[in-house]
Amino acid sequence: MSFPTRRLRRLRAKPSLRRLARETRLSLSDFILPLFIRHGHETRDINSMPGHKQWCLADLPTEINALYALGIQQVLLFGIPEHKDELGSDSYHEQGIIQQAIRLIKEHQPSMLVIADVCFCEYTSHGHCGVVNDKCGQLDVDNDETLLLLQKQALSFAQAGADIIAPSGNMDGMVGAIRAVLDEKGFVHTPILSYSAKYASSFYGPFREAAEGAPKFGDRKTYQMDPANGNEALKETLLDVEEGADMLMVKPALAYLDVIYRIKEAFPEFPLVAYQVSGEFSMIKAAAEKGWIDEKKVALESLIAIKRAGADIIVSYFTKQIAAWLKEEGEK
Ligand code: PBG
Repeated sequence: MSFPTRRLRRLRAKPSLRRLARETRLSLSDFILPLFIRHGHETRDINSMPGHKQWCLADLPTEINALYALGIQQVLLFGIPEHKDELGSDSYHEQGIIQQAIRLIKEHQPSMLVIADVCFCEYTSHGHCGVVNDKCGQLDVDNDETLLLLQKQALSFAQAGADIIAPSGNMDGMVGAIRAVLDEKGFVHTPILSYSAKYASSFYGPFREAAEGAPKFGDRKTYQMDPANGNEALKETLLDVEEGADMLMVKPALAYLDVIYRIKEAFPEFPLVAYQVSGEFSMIKAAAEKGWIDEKKVALESLIAIKRAGADIIVSYFTKQIAAWLKEEGEK
C-alpha cells in the first residue's frame, strides 16, 4: 500500500489556508447595480424582483446616497417614461426621465459612476428596440433608421452627464454610429460599453415587468443572438471592437460561461462585463423564499463562477446585498 505524497487536501484543511489559496475573489468594485427610474411621484415595488424598485426622481437622491455609503460606486440606469411613442422620443429629450435622473445623481453624488443603457424598448409604444417598419406585411426593426435615433439618444445621455454609454439594442453598427457622434460633439473621452454578445434570452423575463418594455408583438430574435450560437459571439464582439468599443459584455451570464471564457481568451485586453440578468436573480430569490436553497451561498457561488470564467466586472441585482455579504465574509 503506497500513500499519496501529493495531498490536495492539505491546502483545504482550514479557512485561513483556503482563503490564501483561493484563485478568484469578489470585490465590491467589480459590481454594477442596475436601477430603474420611473416618471411621476411614486416609487413602486417590482413584484418579480424582490428588493428592487422603480424609483421616482424625488426618492432617487436618498437611495443614491445610501448606495454610496455602502460602497457602491457604479450604477446602470433604465428609464420608464411617462409617454411612450413609436420612436421612443422621451429617450432623446433633454427633459427625458434618464436625462433628469443623470443630472440629479451628479448633483447629489458627483463621483457615482453613471452608466446609461442605450436602447429603445422601454421608450417605444410597441416595445421593440428600435424603429419598426412594415416591409411587405412583415413588421421588423429597421437597423439603419434605428442607428440615427441611437445617436440622438446616446448624445443626449452624454450631454446630461453620463460617464459611460452602454448600447444594448444589438443593432448592426451601433457602436460605430455612437462613437462617431460622440467624437463629433466633443465627447471623445466618453467610453462605450457595448452589450457585444447579447442573446435573445428568456432569462430577461422579470426585467420586462421591471422596465415595462415587453414587445407588444413578436420577439427580439431578428436582432438578438440565437442562444445556440457560440462562434457568432466572437464575430459580434470583433465587430464591436473594430467599431471602437472600450468595454465588452456577455449577457446573460450563468448559462453562457463558455461564451464569457471564449471572449476573454480572444480579447484579453478589453475589460469584460457579464450581466447576471433579471431571471438569474429572480430564480435564486424565488427558490430561497421557498427555503429550497441558501440565497447568499448560491448567489455568491454563481457570481464567483462568472468571474472564474473570465468576467472582470459583473452587472448584478445582488450588488446591494453583496456589499453586506462581502463585509460579513471579510470579518470571518
Ligand atoms: C434593453 C435591455 C434588456 C435587458 C437589459 N437591457 C431587455 C431585453 O433585451 O429584452 C435585460 C436585463 C435583465 O433581464 O436583467 N434592451
